[in-house]
Amino acid sequence: REQQLKRQFEALEQANAYFQQQLRQSPERERAVNYLKQRGLSGQIAAAFGIGYAPPGWDNLMRHFDGVESATALLEQSGMVIHNEDKQSHYDRFRDRIMFPIRDVRGRVLGFGGRVLGDDKPKYLNSPETPTFHKGRELYGLYEARKHSNHLDRLLIVEGYMDVVSLAQHGIHWSVATLGTATTEQHLERLFKLVPEVIFCFDGDQAGRTAALRALRTTLPVIKDGQEARFLFLPDGEDPDTLVRQEGEDAFTERVTQAMPLSEFFFKSLSEDADLSSMDGRARFSNAALPMINSMQPSLLKQMMLDRICEITGLSLEQLGSVIDLHRATHE
Ligand code: CTP
Ligand code: MN
Ligand code: MN
Ligand code: MN
Ligand code: MN
Repeated sequence: REQQLKRQFEALEQANAYFQQQLRQSPERERAVNYLKQRGLSGQIAAAFGIGYAPPGWDNLMRHFDGVESATALLEQSGMVIHNEDKQSHYDRFRDRIMFPIRDVRGRVLGFGGRVLGDDKPKYLNSPETPTFHKGRELYGLYEARKHSNHLDRLLIVEGYMDVVSLAQHGIHWSVATLGTATTEQHLERLFKLVPEVIFCFDGDQAGRTAALRALRTTLPVIKDGQEARFLFLPDGEDPDTLVRQEGEDAFTERVTQAMPLSEFFFKSLSEDADLSSMDGRARFSNAALPMINSMQPSLLKQMMLDRICEITGLSLEQLGSVIDLHRATHE
């Protein structure tokens, strides 16, 4: 089994080398290179992220592995080749796509994200979950960020591959992306082991705002004293890529500096759902807020957030005690 995993990692590394080589040598390379240029990426940044190109065709990668023992099974296990049960045949998963290798913190390629060059659907195709690739655990760009700097003091969490690469193109080498999934507790626990501060920076659209609310709920049980989470909201229609391209490193970094602290986002989003000028609204607010506060670990921040609820409602901690697990909240 150990041996088989080793072979899978080697196959993925070899596939990655092949895609990068195709970006230089495929007959279709011009389209691919032009696409990357048009998105503002230099050859240097493309190389730093190992960006490659899977040429059009159903079996380029399989043919590249000709002569490798049981290559088809190996590529299938690695998520690179799809088995068509009906036709009893195999074909390359990634065809005519820009390839973003996803590495673990040790730098091993675990899988890929592949983007179409035009407007076809799906826009991104990702490697499937395999025994070695768990999307709820891995973060795109973490290896590259750590490679760039060995003392990171904060990390931006963005939505997309292109956001990470484009930010790096503009000198911001401290972002990571979740892999088309929500931010998980596992993601956050990993990040907080590396840096004391994370800043969520999702797209300026409804999906991005919903993701921020989910991220808030996911962060509350994880965050501890000495750690900080903030939220950066982008103008409508922008994502980190489009914005940093428009306004550059300094203006973008200034936005990061101004990002909203977790507690502020917490009170802002909850008070938008309740009319705090009425008693009923304040009750509604507290009923939504207290379970979320209860999910937090004991911390000074938690104390202060509870105090703030007391201020808003005019109730004492003791009076709130029937709703919250007061012991856990104050003494644990
Ligand atoms: N995503 C995905 N599959 C899709 C669409 C999106 O896995 N069909 C994931 C990708 O990781 C993508 C992220 O969700 O990077 C964010 O999606 P979106 O904002 O739509 O794409 P962008 O990253 O902005 O893509 P681009 O700038 O290349 O158009
Ligand atoms: Mn098979
Ligand atoms: Mn989006
Ligand atoms: Mn984008
Ligand atoms: Mn986007």
